[in-house]
Amino acid sequence: MTSLHLLLWIVSGIVLQVAIYLGIGFWRHWQEYQALRSRAVEFNLPVKAPLPTAASELATASWPGFRTFRVERKVTEDIAQSVCSFYLMPKDGQALPPFLPGQFLTFRLDLPTTAGTEQIIRCYSLSDAPRPDSYRVSIKRVLPPEGTQLPAGRSSSFFHDQVAVSSLLQVRAPAGHFHIERSDTPVVLIGGGIGITPMLSMLNWCLTEQPGREVWLFYGVRDGSELVMRSHLETLAAAHPNFHLRVCFSKPLPEESTGRDYHHAGRIDLALLRMELAFKPYHFYICGPAPLMESLVPALADWGVPDAHIHFEAFGPASVVRKQAATSAAVRPQSEAEEAGIVVTFAQSGKQLPWQPTAGSLLAFAEANGIAVDSGCRAGGCGTCQTTIRAGAVAYRQSPDYDPDPGTCLLCVCTPKTSVTLEV
Ligand code: FES
Repeated sequence: MTSLHLLLWIVSGIVLQVAIYLGIGFWRHWQEYQALRSRAVEFNLPVKAPLPTAASELATASWPGFRTFRVERKVTEDIAQSVCSFYLMPKDGQALPPFLPGQFLTFRLDLPTTAGTEQIIRCYSLSDAPRPDSYRVSIKRVLPPEGTQLPAGRSSSFFHDQVAVSSLLQVRAPAGHFHIERSDTPVVLIGGGIGITPMLSMLNWCLTEQPGREVWLFYGVRDGSELVMRSHLETLAAAHPNFHLRVCFSKPLPEESTGRDYHHAGRIDLALLRMELAFKPYHFYICGPAPLMESLVPALADWGVPDAHIHFEAFGPASVVRKQAATSAAVRPQSEAEEAGIVVTFAQSGKQLPWQPTAGSLLAFAEANGIAVDSGCRAGGCGTCQTTIRAGAVAYRQSPDYDPDPGTCLLCVCTPKTSVTLEV
């Protein structure tokens, strides 16, 4: 054999090896691609029909108007002493109807003023699973932002400083469309700051009622001093292998370390979710401050999570716009051409503005244009944002729990149907 033949044999061998290597690589990728495709189909399947004992079958708790509750217990829940739980029992001693985990209570408070009292309405999420004897809300004291002269939150200060054991409170029945359903799909709960409260209700209910369901909780706070019910969460995580707790500190203290005090440094974001979660048809429940909601909800949609799998509730004037909201018939009952000519007049504020469908609700539209409107639940459950319609008509995105008076509307859950003049 000449050296030329030998060289040809060597080159042929190398070419054959490369071809085999590429072939195996291609085959493996093809297999993975096929698996991903079939899981993607599964991902877009509708949620399985609720099981026979679905949360949706729980009668939504209801009584007309306000009912008197007595505060049975007050418990401070964090090292910073900024979150306090209030255990409430009905004064009439009757059993409480159940509620849907994630719902809230509406309180009518008589705040003392120099001239007497002022009545205000405020809503707080229920923070425990339904019980027949009591409700629990966990309230954070709202402090003014550092360096500002703004006053502290009036209702949260009232609860922390003036509501004591044995105090009586006026409470409307649980309400709200943000709640978990019984299902066998895995669930991801995301709570930012005091947005943990509805997540606690969902988590406690889920682990009790559906002990095998896969549940993740991503809980974001600044540092350990703000962590609410730490030992309760750690006990649940140790007792339930299907529950995965991930605590995120955005500004950990120097003495705090990853692995011991928290799982991740930084805010909850899509990169973290992608790193932690497998490719499964998760349902996401999110509650937190506006920046968290405004970044995470669209990011999940961009990641390919179906709109029906993203459930959220925002604090304050968050302007979360669903990806599908721009085209959903439920949200946009009219054609773009029809909406283009709609004008909203805020009579007391003296503002006349062309309607922008992307604003979401009329409440969000008012706030985006600098018009202050009192609001409570922002979900059609408390009546705080009710205002008179002087002219025109509105449409509701979903039927509200609170029945507005004739000739009025609930700004937080409606959009203009025609050009409209509102009292505010
Ligand atoms: S803010 Fe509660 S009904 Fe609108």
